[in-house]
Amino acid sequence: MLHGVTLRSKRVLVMGLLAAVMAVAAGSPTLTAAGDNKGKNESVAADLGGFGGILNFLDALVVPAVVTDGVTGPFFARVLAGKGEAPGDIEQCLAMLLDHDLGGSSPHFGFVLADGHQCRSSMTEIHRGLNIPDFVVDRFIMIVGMEAQKAHVPDADIAEVAKVLDRYRGGVRNK
Ligand code: HEM
Repeated sequence: MLHGVTLRSKRVLVMGLLAAVMAVAAGSPTLTAAGDNKGKNESVAADLGGFGGILNFLDALVVPAVVTDGVTGPFFARVLAGKGEAPGDIEQCLAMLLDHDLGGSSPHFGFVLADGHQCRSSMTEIHRGLNIPDFVVDRFIMIVGMEAQKAHVPDADIAEVAKVLDRYRGGVRNK
């Protein structure tokens, strides 16, 4: 969780998506905690606990690491100052994108969240004006991998997550 980070979103707790609420409420730092569909579904998304497990992973581990990292952190200054998208919305949209691309049932883009934010589809538009250099994208992907390792995600799954993130690199960098 984002204890100590002022913009910890409470929306995650009220968004009405049961799996996410259960995963967050259980306070589990591991991705497999919400993986009740494992066995029925062999996708990487299922391994990671589907949308709820991925959201919990982003909220509990990735976001705190990314916003405090010296390389990636500065790019979130606007968001942390309350001037960009709500952090909880960013987490939910990214969790859906990853769940979708890793074989889960989340919509890719376009989902309307509890507060009315609609997840955007264009990486170029989302990251426009941030001027994120290539090496910062590398660092971001590396942090996700390091946090996944801490959560005991198998190496093969970490590689798949990195592959999915890397596919968006062209839309994210230098915009
Ligand atoms: C590598 C693949 C990446 C993907 C797939 C990705 C995906 C996303 C998504 C889905 C959102 C939320 C979209 C929405 O609100 O509808 C978002 C927002 C954002 N991302 Fe990324 N991202 C990536 C890399 C990065 C990197 C490397 C940084 C900076 C180090 C970054 C900084 C941000 C910021 C600051 C926002 C909020 C923008 C705003 O609305 O004010 N992203 N990203």
